[in-house]
Amino acid sequence: MSNRLPVDRVVDEAGQATWRPSPGGLVTALQPVMRAEDGVWVGWAGVAGEEVEPFEADGISILPVALSEQELQEYYEGFSNDTLWPLYHDVIAQPSYHREWWDSYVRVNRRFADAAAGAAAPGAVVWVHDYQLQLVPAMLREVRPDLVIGFFNHIPFPPYGIYSQLPWRRQIIDGLLGADVIGFQRVADAGNFSRAVRRLKGYETRGPIIEVPIDTDDPESGSHRHVTTNRHGGLVRTVLARAFPISIDAEAYQELARRPAIQERAREIREELGNPETIMLGVDRLDYTKGIGHRLKAFGELLRDGRLDVEKVTLVQVASPSRERVETYRQLRDEIELTVGRINGDYATLGHTAVAYLHHGYPKEEMVALYLAADVMLVTALRDGMNLVAKEYVATRVDEDGVLVLSEFAGASDELRQALLINPHDIEGLKDAMLQAIAMPKRDRVRRMRALRKKVLTNDVARWSASFLEALTRSAHGDHPLQDAPVNRR
Ligand code: G6P
Repeated sequence: MSNRLPVDRVVDEAGQATWRPSPGGLVTALQPVMRAEDGVWVGWAGVAGEEVEPFEADGISILPVALSEQELQEYYEGFSNDTLWPLYHDVIAQPSYHREWWDSYVRVNRRFADAAAGAAAPGAVVWVHDYQLQLVPAMLREVRPDLVIGFFNHIPFPPYGIYSQLPWRRQIIDGLLGADVIGFQRVADAGNFSRAVRRLKGYETRGPIIEVPIDTDDPESGSHRHVTTNRHGGLVRTVLARAFPISIDAEAYQELARRPAIQERAREIREELGNPETIMLGVDRLDYTKGIGHRLKAFGELLRDGRLDVEKVTLVQVASPSRERVETYRQLRDEIELTVGRINGDYATLGHTAVAYLHHGYPKEEMVALYLAADVMLVTALRDGMNLVAKEYVATRVDEDGVLVLSEFAGASDELRQALLINPHDIEGLKDAMLQAIAMPKRDRVRRMRALRKKVLTNDVARWSASFLEALTRSAHGDHPLQDAPVNRR
């Protein structure tokens, strides 16, 4: 289950409805898994006010959940993307708290839970994805205690001092604790969650295990799957909360990168840009968490100070349109486009653009060609759950060349240690890293890229989903790892 289906419904001017692959890393990550499983994908079809019948797409059974225009505004644009999104990303933007949005979030989560409850076979495994659906695990457990329920949070889980702002902080924790296994991108995210559970609920946690007390007056209490006695003699069900860093279908990227037509397209891109010595690339959803402004500032200053020459270096920035009806995103677009315009106005020449700015989404083939053309990849997120673009760049570089500049605030930096790791708030440091990347000798580039590729090719998305599902199945059989681990105190 995820807010977005793997396909979006689009209605063209003639009123004809078609489906196209939907945006975002989540879909990229799950499609290969779902194809291989005999599963049903429950999600929203991407348009408001339309009831869509269940259907099949690319061998996946799809069960659409309808949202009204008002729910789209309150549950999706409001609570999901203007409350939870900024709150969970370190309040880079100010979260808005509105009680009507919360009510709508509860209502829509209930609808998703009911849809899954109706579709799941007895004892089935249900895997719920991301921050839009955090209440679903408990809602589902309530009506279907036979199900094995997993939840994966694709975005960061914030430190307690930030999380505790949320007026509905306890309800969200209760919602998530309905799952048997709760997955996070980073060890730090899982730690933040466990701490919030201790502080807000007073439950004990041991290593990755959370002990949720069972209300023995509840007639359903006997139906819980893995019940055990805690050190105080009380009955608890155990929930596993730990990191499962997500990845990509690395082999699919490699395969595209080896195609002669795509390599030819990469050469063509270089040519179209006027054959600069160095191409730097940024690829992001147009989101304030991505640090696009910081990247542009650093690049602009390097041109201003004459440390970079516009005839030799071009920055290509792909910014795919996202959440365009949310005010913060509109403002961001204006800011970024103003900055790009200024940099080009000040430094471009007739023959050489400084920043080639593209406000579009592109098919995978074109993205791979861009990655192959890019000497330096810039991932400068201020906060990011994982950042799959970093992994896509690495998987694409079958030539073992190219330099990845990677923010330490992206989850990917836990694994991709051989990237040039940067703090995007430190503009001087970012400028130095850009220059270091441009000047890096081939031997060093290859050494780093080889190490990065090994990580990404080994830990691909198939391994990610297999390890999550394995933990889920084990927990369903009452296997409680680290039962004897010491109690966490803080
Ligand atoms: C992130 C989130 C996904 C979301 C995607 C695109 O990757 O983790 O849950 O689907 O962004 O955002 P959108 O709001 O367009 O679904």
